[in-house]
Amino acid sequence: MGTVILGTGSCLPEKIVTNHDLEEIVDTSAEWIQSRTGINARRISGKGEQTYNLATEASRKALLMSGIDAKELDIIVVATISSHMLMPSCACFVQKELGATKAFAYDVNAACSGFLYALDLGDKYVRADSEKKILIVGAEVLSARLNWADRNTCILFGDGAGAVIIGHQEGDCGYIGSNFFSDGNLWKLLYMHAPKSNNPELCIEENPGSHIIMEGREIFKYAVKAMEDAVRGLLAKEQISLDSVKLVIPHQANIRILNNLIERLEIPKEKVFINVAEYGNTSAASIPIALDEAKREGRISAGDTILFCTFGGGLTWGATLIKW
Ligand code: UT7
Repeated sequence: MGTVILGTGSCLPEKIVTNHDLEEIVDTSAEWIQSRTGINARRISGKGEQTYNLATEASRKALLMSGIDAKELDIIVVATISSHMLMPSCACFVQKELGATKAFAYDVNAACSGFLYALDLGDKYVRADSEKKILIVGAEVLSARLNWADRNTCILFGDGAGAVIIGHQEGDCGYIGSNFFSDGNLWKLLYMHAPKSNNPELCIEENPGSHIIMEGREIFKYAVKAMEDAVRGLLAKEQISLDSVKLVIPHQANIRILNNLIERLEIPKEKVFINVAEYGNTSAASIPIALDEAKREGRISAGDTILFCTFGGGLTWGATLIKW
């Protein structure tokens, strides 16, 4: 142990789009969306709210809570699948905006699992050098990467960012471990094309543009079982019982996925932080936004064991344990 979260922050776009608003865009009903997903609304970016803007604002709040100056940061990692440019990385824009002149910066792409993968990477840096101060962000503007004529997907996702600052602290606290998996064989269940190739030999004819395409029902089936197995495996490896976990912060994809998971793991519902109704699925941003809200609502205290679990495109999935 030893890698601790020193501060958290989040940032959501101003504009709230309700299920009723979506009735005007696609053939759906507010009731269908609510009952099938548990989502009531999502935030959608407007002018000046690119992925890096949201990421920067979330990072500023995390820096403030941690009492660390941006100039002290050594590394910035942003987990995202929806930066406004392919290059430079979103992390480089955040580095520029924060004036984090000492930090090197790069992005991680693991879809909805990106934040937990990046946090795990951050833990390794801190273990290697206890002086390191690292900013880990999950940020998405998925509204830019949705097919707004596809009711199977456009109702599910939202925009937002969450951030944490990590560093070393002595004592019986910190990052405990993780249990991650990927299965590229299942990539077709959830994917997004890159821009069309300019090399005619490599051009994928059926590329309809760069937006999310998903087999929702199949994803649903895999998600519940995969997260349950990842959680059980991690608890067994770390010899920690679910009873001793104070709070579970899952990826916020769909309330039915979460309810299934809660049932299978037999976790009291009060122990699970859920905000999918307000924000929808914000992919890599969902866990750090939920973590920040849980922290600011006073649901996390020193010594609490927190369990995270996630599932997303790749496919990628896994679970992480930390002691606050
Ligand atoms: O981070 C991981 C990302 N992915 C996910 O979390 C997605 C996981 N999957 C899901 O959340 C659910 O599968 C959905 C919410 C996407 C869909 O719910 P479902 O209960 O699995 O519905 P379905 O796909 O089985 O579709 C049932 C019906 C279909 O009509 P027919 O074929 O039965 O006539 C759909 O065409 O519902 C229809 N449908 C809609 N109806 C109204 C699909 N989307 C909509 C919609 N409004 N927005």
